[in-house]
Amino acid sequence: MDLNIALLKGDGIGPEIIDSAVEVLERVGSLYGHKFTFTPYLIGGIAIDETGEPLPQATVDGCLASDSVLLGAVGGPKWDDLPGDKRPEKALLGIRYALGLYTNLRPAKLFPALKGASPLREDIVGACFDIMIVRELTGGIYFGDRGYRQGKYGEEAFDTEAYSVKEIERIGKAAFDIARKRGKRVTSIDKANVLETSRLWRKTMQALAEQYPDVEYRDMLVDNAAMQLVRDPKQFDVIVTSNMFGDILSDEASQITGSIGMLASASLGDTTRGMYEPIHGSAPDIAGQDKANPIATVLSAAMMLRYSFGLSAEADSIERAVDSVLTSGARTADILGSSALPPVGCRAMTEQIVSAL
Ligand code: IPM
Ligand code: MG
Repeated sequence: MDLNIALLKGDGIGPEIIDSAVEVLERVGSLYGHKFTFTPYLIGGIAIDETGEPLPQATVDGCLASDSVLLGAVGGPKWDDLPGDKRPEKALLGIRYALGLYTNLRPAKLFPALKGASPLREDIVGACFDIMIVRELTGGIYFGDRGYRQGKYGEEAFDTEAYSVKEIERIGKAAFDIARKRGKRVTSIDKANVLETSRLWRKTMQALAEQYPDVEYRDMLVDNAAMQLVRDPKQFDVIVTSNMFGDILSDEASQITGSIGMLASASLGDTTRGMYEPIHGSAPDIAGQDKANPIATVLSAAMMLRYSFGLSAEADSIERAVDSVLTSGARTADILGSSALPPVGCRAMTEQIVSAL
């Protein structure tokens, strides 16, 4: 296949980890006979520095014209004091929205070789756990009305959450369809004991569940879910939840796998064009020092091959390569755990994955 991939390297460790993923993709391309053409576009802090805008129109147009998008990370202390609208993070929300990517898949899977890096006891982790978080990505409080006004105690700020039946149904369908291809269990997470949006969410999910009699469905309140994730993560298969709850729970789920540096994500809409990114951030403290873990980005590239291009064998080969490198004992600093060996850098980890391919 001939495929055009837009690269949004962004800030901090973004450029290093995207370079790693590109190397891995190029190797896969030469092994399986695909031609990947990579075109970089600016996003985040670097885009602010070079164009004054966190998400230049040329970036949006370039992504829309590509077959898929690979994103590193955005943000850093240099841009932290800018107003909300001009912050690098705004670009991330903007590009998700512009590309219509309402389904965010965040798999939290424990690699057997990394059991020792999980902060949970081995008896809690069990043989392994494998959770797919399906986060709604273009609605809710992230995109509701916000601003400042005069309130009872003077100036106050507000953010609002709104969800339509349509938005809940389409993310619900995505979750049930994915569950059918995995463990056939869906947990929908909300705060229906307090929030009106959550009550509509729950009602809509329950109605949808009736169309999927082969999938086991349950609701769970978000505070309980936060607790259950560390008490017994094996109980979850697919989790479906709102934008903000998904943001929070996916960080929690990633940490119990051993490292946020391991987790990939896919953002999908109604076309095959998706955006793929590690779920960790730009880690400005280690940027440019060859210390970043490239695995989450490499695995995001694997998700791109699988979900956007239907190249499952190629995606499997990347995942197997990562597995075998981890089994051989190679560790970046973030997943060192109790290993007695010195950590490897981003470059060395990438080379090992490429040669394992
Ligand atoms: C994420 C991040 C983003 C989010 C931030 C950087 C805007 O935390 O992708 O999880 O909240 O969606
Ligand atoms: Mg987050």
